[in-house]
Amino acid sequence: MQLYIDSANLEQIQKYTDWGFIDGVTTNPSLAAKEGVKPEELSTHLKKITDIVKGLVSIEVYSTTYDEMIAEAMKYSEIASNIVIKLPCTQDGLRACKTLSEKNIKTNVTLVFSPLQAMMAAKMGATLVSPFVGRVEDALFDGLDLIAQIRVIFDNYEFETKILSASFRSTKQISEVAQIGSDIATVSPDLLEKLIKHPLTDIGLEKFLKDAGLK
Ligand code: E4P
Repeated sequence: MQLYIDSANLEQIQKYTDWGFIDGVTTNPSLAAKEGVKPEELSTHLKKITDIVKGLVSIEVYSTTYDEMIAEAMKYSEIASNIVIKLPCTQDGLRACKTLSEKNIKTNVTLVFSPLQAMMAAKMGATLVSPFVGRVEDALFDGLDLIAQIRVIFDNYEFETKILSASFRSTKQISEVAQIGSDIATVSPDLLEKLIKHPLTDIGLEKFLKDAGLK
């Protein structure tokens, strides 16, 4: 399973790229705002991210209507060859997805909460589809089942669209989507660090070094 970092923070993106963890990046308007990036500064900020990460980098449109989405997407697609245009799963967003796919511009349909939304995004030619595991679980529904159902549909019809599971609240959820067969998981910096942690690893290493007389 590929791992993306779900952040617009340049230091964190650089850090986990240096660690060798990162296959790509996802951002959204909330994450950009958290870094103090205004809408008119988004292209410049994302260019800095594409300079760090060679994999796919998702940039989300602020527009909500088809014509404005296309105009915004065309501007963002000039940033770098690894840019992916993130579009909400609305009627305008899906129509924009189809148009951009036909122009060979990569797309990521986001805010996906049902298997049928994912199927429709795939039918529109989306490169990536982003189901939000954590927000589904926050609402007391089964976020992991959502990923499993999308996996079945995509496999049934051999859709090339990749499942980019998002919005994680725990490392356990990340482990579960990996077992289900999610193609990608986008993970916040705090959870990324926890992926390699286990207390028994630390205890075991301490004992080895002690037994060897090195501690
Ligand atoms: C996905 O691309 C989103 O940026 C993200 O995973 C949403 O996570 P949240 O529910 O923690 O905001």
